[in-house]
Amino acid sequence: MNIGILGLGTVGGGVVNVLNKNQAQITRRSGDNINITHAAVRDTTQIRICPTEDIKLTQDPFEIINNNDIDVVLELMGGTGLAKDLVEQAIENGKHVVTANKALIAIHGNKLLALAKDNNTHLLFEAAVAGGIPILKILEQGLSANQIELVAGIINGTSNFILTEMRNKGRDFGDVLKEAQALGYAEDDPTFDVEGIDAAHKLAILASMAFGCELQFNQVSTEGISKISGEDITFATELGYTIKHLGIAKKLDGKLQMYVHPTLVPKTHLLSNVDGVMNSVLVKGNAVSETLYYGAGAGAEATASSVIANLIDIIKGTVNHDILGWKSLKNIPNCNTGDIE
Ligand code: NDP
Ligand code: HSE
Repeated sequence: MNIGILGLGTVGGGVVNVLNKNQAQITRRSGDNINITHAAVRDTTQIRICPTEDIKLTQDPFEIINNNDIDVVLELMGGTGLAKDLVEQAIENGKHVVTANKALIAIHGNKLLALAKDNNTHLLFEAAVAGGIPILKILEQGLSANQIELVAGIINGTSNFILTEMRNKGRDFGDVLKEAQALGYAEDDPTFDVEGIDAAHKLAILASMAFGCELQFNQVSTEGISKISGEDITFATELGYTIKHLGIAKKLDGKLQMYVHPTLVPKTHLLSNVDGVMNSVLVKGNAVSETLYYGAGAGAEATASSVIANLIDIIKGTVNHDILGWKSLKNIPNCNTGDIE
C-alpha cells in the first residue's frame, strides 16, 4: 500500500515516526505493508522530526495527487484553500484520503464527503477532533445504539494548556501561547485556538456525527479565551470553580444548539481536572447515560495515532460510515429545522 503525505510537520512527522516504531504491529493489524513513498513540503532542506531518506520529498503536492502508484493520501498540511483543491483532486483520482484538518472538514466536509461517496473512496478524519482520542469512532460505532442527547468537552489543547499554566503557575497568557506554539500544539494561525474557532470546527464535526445531521460550522456560537485574565482565574478558584474552555452541543426542543465558550466548571466535576494539553469529551446517550473520554488533544504522536488508525481501517476494509448520518449524506436533515435524530 503506497501512501503519499501532504505535509511533514508536527503531525506528518509524527505519522512517519509512529509507523516506523510500530511497524510490525501495524503491518499485522492492517494485513499489508505501508510504504510512505512521497511527501510534499514547502522546504525540502529543512531538518525534520522524522527520518526522510526513504521518502521522496517534493514541493509540488499535485505530484502526489496525480501519481497513479499512490493509493492513499494523508492531508496533514492544514488550511482550507490549497488543501481543499488537493483533497478534491485526490478523491476524483480515486484515492482514499485521511486528514487531520478540522477546518477543512468543518467548512467543506459536506461537499467533500459527497464527492468521496460519488467516487467510491473514503475520506476519514478521526485526528481532526480531540487529537488522540478516538471519539468519532466511539460516536459512530461504540454508542450507535443510543440517541445522543449531549456532547460536551475540552476540545482545544492549546486553550486548555494556557488556562492550566495561568492557574497553576500564574504565567502570562502570551508567554504560554508561545510555548504551545513551540511544542507544536497551536494552529498555524493561533487566533484559531485562542478565539475558539478551532474548537468550533471540532464541535461542528462532533455534533454532525453525534446527531446525524450535516456539518453546520456557521451555526456554532463562538467565544475564545483571549479575554480571560489572571484575575478571572483567581476569582473563579476562590469561588470553587475552574475556568475551562468548553464546546457544547445538545438538543433542545428537537433543535441542535452548539456553543464554544469559557465556562465555570465546579472543582468537583471531572472536567475541571483535565489539565494541560489534554482533552476530554463527555457524551450522554439515552441508553448508556453519561460517558467520558480523556486523552492528548494535540501533539505529534498522539495525533498520528488517530491518523494511522484511519489508515489501517482503509487498508483492512473496515471503514464504517453506515451508522450516523453520513451514509445518506445527500438526504441528511438540517439540524435547525428541528429534524434531528
Ligand atoms: P505544521 O505546520 O507543523 O506542518 C505543516 C506541513 O505542511 C509542513 O511540513 C509544511 O512544509 C507543509 N506545507 C504547508 N503548506 C504547504 C504547501 N503549500 N506545499 C507543500 N507543503 C506544505 O502543521 P501541523 O502538523 O501542526 O498540522 C497539520 C494539520 O493537522 C492541520 O490541519 C492541523 O490543524 C491539524 N492538527 C494538528 C495537530 C497538532 O497537534 N499539531 C493535532 C490535530 C490536528 P514545511 O515543513 O516545509 O514548512
Ligand atoms: N491547535 C489544536 C489544539 C491542535 O490545540 O487543540 C489539535 O487539534
